[in-house]
Amino acid sequence: MHAPAHQPTGEARLTGETLRTALAGLLDGLPPRQAAQAVERLIANYRGRTPTHTPILRDRSDVVAYAAYRMPATFEAVRSALEAFRDRMPECTPASHVDVGGGTGAATWAVAAAWPEDGHRTTVLDWAEPALSLGAEIAREAPSEALRTAEWRRQTIGDKLVIPEADLVTVSYVLGELTEDGRRAVTDEAARAGRAVVVVEPGTPDGYLRIIEARDRLIAAGFRVVAPCPHSAACPIEAGTDWCHFSARVSRSSLHRQVKGGSLAYEDEKFSYVAAVRDAGVPEAPSRIVRRPQIRKGQVLLELCTPAEGLARETVTKRHGSLYRAARDADWGDEWPPPEGA
Ligand SMILES: C[S@@+](CC[C@H](N)C(=O)[O-])C[C@H]1O[C@@H](n2cnc3c(N)ncnc32)[C@H](O)[C@@H]1O
Repeated sequence: MHAPAHQPTGEARLTGETLRTALAGLLDGLPPRQAAQAVERLIANYRGRTPTHTPILRDRSDVVAYAAYRMPATFEAVRSALEAFRDRMPECTPASHVDVGGGTGAATWAVAAAWPEDGHRTTVLDWAEPALSLGAEIAREAPSEALRTAEWRRQTIGDKLVIPEADLVTVSYVLGELTEDGRRAVTDEAARAGRAVVVVEPGTPDGYLRIIEARDRLIAAGFRVVAPCPHSAACPIEAGTDWCHFSARVSRSSLHRQVKGGSLAYEDEKFSYVAAVRDAGVPEAPSRIVRRPQIRKGQVLLELCTPAEGLARETVTKRHGSLYRAARDADWGDEWPPPEGA
């Protein structure tokens, strides 16, 4: 990792809007009926319970459907996770990044958005050739040198997986497609190769359990958790009673609406994640807000995961002055109390 350079690169800041623009031309030339069928097939495949022994993303219409239907949401989820990581470790800017099971590159775009200073090298590994080619095609026009020069490499997750050493390894929305052995292989190899590892899964009870499994393995490999947990002890959530997850807002472009149906201008992507680092120098963490804050008359109710006392509830009232104003602005997933200057 290197200290942030903050050098102006002359390139536009990369946002969800930039990604939507890059995706906008994708369905051109694909008849709407065919696009709809590709999305239906994709949903059926994902619903038909994986792991699979062959890629789900088999051809161009599959990956176009994935990119249009899912990529904006996985991008926003990973970006939120990376921003929580960056806020806790502001001195760490990755100089190299590997995205395992990277598909069309959502996490690669998210890394470029989270560290707009640019200048990192990025490598995407996946077993689905059509996903890698489409990812490379979309990235070619991106306003980020790291994306334009990214390397897209075919690699299967399994016993023989070798991840190139990197400051940051991301594994986003992949564990759910793997067998137990595959999940172990990718987490252990990410822990060997990465100085920091960020794993993201859907914010469902099963997704959370896969995150806990990965978190345990990272800690056993000597990692410290940076986010969302304010500690590296066992998760205080009692198994089966609840699941730790967060929410990222995703604006829907007309392309997205066309593929997904419906007319809402946005949707909320629920996700679970863990960000961990191998180095010991992790600063003390404040609590984290683990539910949407409830605003009542003259008070805000916060549900927190605390560094030393597990889950806790805090009621912030008008009597708390500036802290009350901060609580009214606080969001699900934020640190609490907010860092100075925030
Ligand atoms: C749901 S997609 C997620 C793609 C991307 N990471 C994202 O966040 O949008 C899962 C990806 O994992 C890849 N994948 C699944 N099983 C794999 C395996 N055994 N080896 C390599 N890649 C695999 C798929 O090809 C697909 O691109």
